[in-house]
Amino acid sequence: MNTATNNREETFTPSLSLSGKKVVVVGGKTGIGLGIARAAHAAGASVVVVSRRVASAQERPDLSDFEQVSLDIRQEAAVQAAFEAIGAFDHLIVTAAPDIGTWGGFMDADMQGVRSYVEGKFLGTWACARYAAPHLRASGSITFLTGGMAVRPKLGFTAVTASFAAVEALSSSLALELAPLRVNTIRPGYIDTDMWGFLPEAQRDGMRNKVAQTFPVQRAGRAADVGHAAVFLMTNPYVTGTVVEVSGGENLVPAI
Ligand SMILES: NC(=O)c1ccc[n+]([C@@H]2O[C@H](COP(=O)([O-])OP(=O)(O)OC[C@H]3O[C@@H](n4cnc5c(N)ncnc54)[C@H](OP(=O)(O)O)[C@@H]3O)[C@@H](O)[C@H]2O)c1
Repeated sequence: MNTATNNREETFTPSLSLSGKKVVVVGGKTGIGLGIARAAHAAGASVVVVSRRVASAQERPDLSDFEQVSLDIRQEAAVQAAFEAIGAFDHLIVTAAPDIGTWGGFMDADMQGVRSYVEGKFLGTWACARYAAPHLRASGSITFLTGGMAVRPKLGFTAVTASFAAVEALSSSLALELAPLRVNTIRPGYIDTDMWGFLPEAQRDGMRNKVAQTFPVQRAGRAADVGHAAVFLMTNPYVTGTVVEVSGGENLVPAI
């Protein structure tokens, strides 16, 4: 082996540091996005969290480490203006998705539900990437969020499955189109966030127990588990165009 190449490899130290980097997390005030914002901040980044609502310091003292921006990602002109105001940055993460219960069914009387889901998830994700791209440093990255339903459909969730699959296709396509910027997707399994707050507590507990008994890792996922994967994708300089499944092995066992 060439000695010069060998020496270069020996002096390379992999780093999970985001020190000096600016990270924007769209959907970062709750759930998985908040887990990612916290992990990025802990890795040394300055973090901007974006969603429709801006919370006061009294309401959400836990957001004090972050800059907050108010934006509805379904409004294209507002998305463009928000990224122009944010300016140059290093890493974009988009976790935002329509509220639970607004997801249309395939045989609904009309297509209002699916249009609204696709607009909030797929086109919203697209808009964020489109208008963030001119402001992202070339050494940076974009990370999208989907879910296991992208490849393991569940009855009644056709709009979600189709949108997740579209987001994953967008991710690999942008890895080519925006190169050398890196573009990846995280596909989480069951993560115990407030997204599930619509369920009665007993039912939520039942789900946690079922997950603990069924999934190989024997517990429900946490937003921090996804945050850890996001820091890896932001800092590893050679990973692009891929989907990272963070599901505790949910993909290996029958659906719960
Ligand atoms: N939790 C799970 O078990 C799980 C599993 C697989 C996949 N996923 C997927 O992962 C993603 C995030 O899930 P999560 O658990 O973090 O959900 P979540 O806590 O409900 O977070 C969604 C975030 O998106 C923001 N948002 C919604 N619509 C928006 C819009 N139009 N413009 C800007 N922001 C908007 C919301 O904030 P505002 O209300 O302030 O706008 C909220 O902060 C979703 O795509 C979900 O389907 C979740």
